[in-house]
This record gives sequence, structure tokens and C-alpha cells, in this order.
Amino acid sequence: MRISEWHERFTLQSTWTQDLRNFIFGKINAQPGQTLLDVGVGTGALLDEYTGRGLQVTGLDLNLENCQFSNLHPAKSIIFNADAHHMPFKAGQFDLTATHYVLLWVRDPAHVVAEMKRVTKPGGYVVAFAEPDYHSRIDYPKVFQDIGKIQNRSLAFQGIDLSMGRKLGHIFRTIGLKDVRLGLLAGQWRYPEKDDFDHEWDIIAFDLGGFIPVDEILAMKERALESWLAGESTVFIPTFYAYGMV
Ligand SMILES: C[S@@+](CC[C@H](N)C(=O)[O-])C[C@H]1O[C@@H](n2cnc3c(N)ncnc32)[C@H](O)[C@@H]1O
Repeated sequence: MRISEWHERFTLQSTWTQDLRNFIFGKINAQPGQTLLDVGVGTGALLDEYTGRGLQVTGLDLNLENCQFSNLHPAKSIIFNADAHHMPFKAGQFDLTATHYVLLWVRDPAHVVAEMKRVTKPGGYVVAFAEPDYHSRIDYPKVFQDIGKIQNRSLAFQGIDLSMGRKLGHIFRTIGLKDVRLGLLAGQWRYPEKDDFDHEWDIIAFDLGGFIPVDEILAMKERALESWLAGESTVFIPTFYAYGMV
């Protein structure tokens, strides 16, 4: 996929967690003018929202192309191309540090959360907005189970930790943060439309590509679409959040 397509994907993904961000920002009493570090900023899908809240945003990402794309973003923020395991910031530099679908990708998530804690001011917050647990996914009926199994194989091959979600609580509770809160993003579904399916399918097709032959992917797509439009299918990937005070 091209980077603009990844950006579309990340932007769509960010809408799923919008209510959760509103909830957590309320709980931690985030105020305009505060500084926020977006760790694993990606293509900058959340930059508009964060700056729209009046936060002064700094982004950090390991991937140079993502940083360059983020930098083109109209939202005013400073982007660093760096590794979240070794952040180029002083201790206590930010009021808030946040990640969104990132810890599952990193080599040592506990180390990254410890770094987030280090660069956050005393009294500030470290937040992981969304960390999925692909190993406990619910896929129904069979065609979606088949797709889910292949997608998990592909994600594992891409290097993600399929059980990240269930590990988040332990990391946050043992890193020395205060008043740690942990939860699960609830699901909400409208009546399924073809547009939603097409969006989902783009990423599924990306993940399945190279794992099974194209004609099998196309046959699965046909069966999956039929089931989707009949309102039969359920696809749910439990996604955890956590936040705690420094
Ligand atoms: C799934 S994307 C999420 C992007 C963004 N947070 C969002 O929700 O749109 C994961 C991002 O984490 C970045 N990443 C992975 N490992 C990293 C590391 N060690 N340090 C910094 N960024 C990293 C990737 O380059 C990628 O941009």
C-alpha cells in the first residue's frame, strides 16, 4: 500500500477509538497548552485532533517515510525520527505521552513505556490508547474464522505481538506509575454496509497477500461479502487501553 493509503487506514482506525480518547482525556483532565508526545506518530492520523484540543504536540516515529508524511500535515507539530526505546528527550519534558496501536510493534514494550514515563513530568500521564489482542479475536462465521487465522499468521510474520493487549496491565502496573487504570474498548456496530466491508477488505487483502493464492483470496472475499451484507458476521478484536500518572 502507498503511504497515503496507510494514512487513510490509520485515520479510519483512529475513528474507532475517538470516544475512548474523549473519555481518557476527560479523566486525566488534559488542558489546552499542555505538551503531548505522540510515540509512534505514524502518518500523523491523530495530529489534527490533538492540536484541535489545544495541545502542543511532538511526534516521534522510527519510520522516516512516516515522519516525512506527518511533517506535511497541516497541524502544527514537531516530528522526530527516532526509536521509542531511546527517546531524544530530557526527563520530565512532556505533560502527557501517548501511544495508539504502537506497543504491539515494538521490540520491548515495557522499555518503551518506561521511556514514556521518564520523559513525562511528575503529575503528568502516560497513556496507551489502543493495544489489540489478536490472539483473543472473535470471528464468525467460518469464512471470517479462516480469514482471521491467516491474518494473524501474516501479522505475526510482520513482527507484531498478537497478545500485546493482555500484557498491557502488567507493564503499566509494574513500571512505577500511580493510579493505573486499565480497560477494554467496547464494540459498537451499525448495520453492515458495503463501504465498511470495502475499507476492511483493503487491509485484509494486504495481510492475506503472499500467504494464500490470489484466487483463494477472491473466493473468500465473495463469501465474506455475502455474509457481511446478510448481517451475519462478527469480527471483534479485543483492544485494551491503560493510563497512569507519573
Ligand atoms: C500501526 S502504526 C500506528 C501509527 C499511529 N499511532 C496511528 O495510530 O495512526 C505503528 C507505528 O509505530 C511505529 N514504530 C514501530 N516501532 C517503533 C519504535 N521502536 N520507535 C518508534 N516508532 C515505532 C511504526 O513506524 C508505525 O508508524
